[in-house]
Amino acid sequence: MTDPATTDLSKDAAARAAVALVENGMKLGLGTGSTAKVFVDRLAERVHAEGLDLRLASTSQATADQARSLGLVVYELDDLGWLDLTIDGADEVDPDLSLIKGGGAAHLREKIVATASDRMVVIADQGKVVERLGKFKLPVEVIPFGWQSTRTHIERALTDLDMADRPIILREKDGAPIRTDENNYILDLDLGEIHDAPALAASLSAIAGVVEHGLFLNICNLAIIGRPDGSVVELRREDLE
Ligand code: 5RP
Repeated sequence: MTDPATTDLSKDAAARAAVALVENGMKLGLGTGSTAKVFVDRLAERVHAEGLDLRLASTSQATADQARSLGLVVYELDDLGWLDLTIDGADEVDPDLSLIKGGGAAHLREKIVATASDRMVVIADQGKVVERLGKFKLPVEVIPFGWQSTRTHIERALTDLDMADRPIILREKDGAPIRTDENNYILDLDLGEIHDAPALAASLSAIAGVVEHGLFLNICNLAIIGRPDGSVVELRREDLE
């Protein structure tokens, strides 16, 4: 098991390296989760120390609240249009820079913001790097109306993809379904291993009640993997092409 203190040092290393990518005048997307939270802390320090002029958009209410509490100004994405860069965490990163996201139930807005950016940079600790996606349960945001029918469609899609009988779990807190920032539910798909992520992504996207799944394919440009000694390893999309 990973030592939490070691993980925190790794997140800080990745966040610091990502803050160094930020340039004055940028339009920047802020991610969600514990690693993105460290990034926002480090970003605020740099903004105040250097007087950087940034236009920020957030992927969640939680991150917007954090940023504002640190004296940063957060805009609506539509006020900014296109962004230069989005920096966010991830639940899994594979060697192709395909991701699973949504552990914080924010992957819908995260995907909208990341795909409205010239570049997406992921920050993570080594524990997020996997050979194959799927050990982390894949989050799927669904409309509450008819969600059990939507779950049946997902079951059928998984069966067609040779993933029959995989558990599909409604995410709950305190005995009630959690609600996303868009007031939807999350179904977590316990898949074990995903052998054909593009096929799975296409099948899930074709289901009416599915709003968005947590597979981020061909979206991330760079992953900065932090280490407890403060160093980082960078995985770049250009190196794959
Ligand atoms: C939220 C996300 C997060 O980026 C992901 O869950 C990683 O979070 P953390 O940095 O806390 O491990 O996708 O929806």
